[in-house]
Amino acid sequence: MSDLTTPPLLEIRDLHVRFAVRNGQVHAVRGLDLTVHRGEVAAVVGESGSGKSASMLATLGLLDINASASGSVRFDGTELLGAPPPVLRSIRGGRIGMIFQDPMTSLNPVLDIRRQIAEAVITHRQVSPRQAESKAVELLEMVSFPDAVRRARSYPHELSGGMRQRVMIAMALANDPDILIADEPTTALDVTVQAQILDLLRSLRQSRELAIVLITHDLGVVAGLADTVNVMYAGRIAESGPVVDIFHRPQHPYTIGLLASLPRLDRPDRELTPIGGVPPRLYEEPEGCSFAPRCRYAVEACHEVEPPLERVEASMVACSVLPMRSRTAEGSL
Ligand SMILES: Nc1ncnc2c1ncn2[C@@H]1O[C@H](COP(=O)(O)OP(=O)(O)O)[C@@H](O)[C@H]1O
Ligand SMILES: [Mg+2]
Repeated sequence: MSDLTTPPLLEIRDLHVRFAVRNGQVHAVRGLDLTVHRGEVAAVVGESGSGKSASMLATLGLLDINASASGSVRFDGTELLGAPPPVLRSIRGGRIGMIFQDPMTSLNPVLDIRRQIAEAVITHRQVSPRQAESKAVELLEMVSFPDAVRRARSYPHELSGGMRQRVMIAMALANDPDILIADEPTTALDVTVQAQILDLLRSLRQSRELAIVLITHDLGVVAGLADTVNVMYAGRIAESGPVVDIFHRPQHPYTIGLLASLPRLDRPDRELTPIGGVPPRLYEEPEGCSFAPRCRYAVEACHEVEPPLERVEASMVACSVLPMRSRTAEGSL
């Protein structure tokens, strides 16, 4: 379990990411704060384009050449923003493991999977190729890759999407990381396989005390795995807090909308209500709250001032209306 008395393992403060584009810039991440403790699973949730990947790429020093990042990203006491490339290279794939959405583009089509995992081991450790290959098979067994000994010589195209994602997870775990950054790890998979990969992450987290940053646009996948949920909208946190509070006492209208658009097993007859409209494109700074144009609770002031992130019960919320809170106060919930 997470230990809240020790300093955080990963601490992102006031992170900004800007991309230079033809007619100006896109301010994709606008002051992100994110804290992850050892052994903790932090979900980062938001619609496509909300700045989830840009935040993580900035954290890992992997942003495109047209990007600039500012703020602070501390990993176990070391500042990563602006750290020298050798420091970043040794942390990436070492103490920080990464998996991305599409394993096919991240795997090398001409090497068998045992070789690829072995290379991930050799990059960070002084071991012989033979030792690395036997470690690769061990890692495949750890991620429940069926018949690992025999099938370790398979090539990526011979595997299903779920099996390829298991290979990616094995590679990410090659050097016994403290934290795994998983960017939409199940988005490309069908629902059954998605559940298997989430189960795998859950058991790895337990057996290895692994911290995980789980990035997803689907709030539904985080319920059984995350300790904290960080809802991003237009490059900022709209709401963050313990998973139970986010699911049972959401405060921000955007979180309320995301939850309302989830299918629920206990209420199959419920109408699903997706949030209308689209997020702003961040070529210019939004005036007022960036969610206000889509928000059914917005009042005039919402269009004028961007609300700061403030504590509401166990969560942090950036909303000046807080519709649920006033309803609770009136006793009408
Ligand atoms: N290399 C890039 N150049 C220009 N804009 C980019 C680049 N990468 C991302 N963006 C923009 O930054 C915003 C955030 O993107 P991203 O972090 O990928 O969103 P998410 O992962 O939440 O879907 C989007 O508006 C996207 O178009
Ligand atoms: Mg993304």
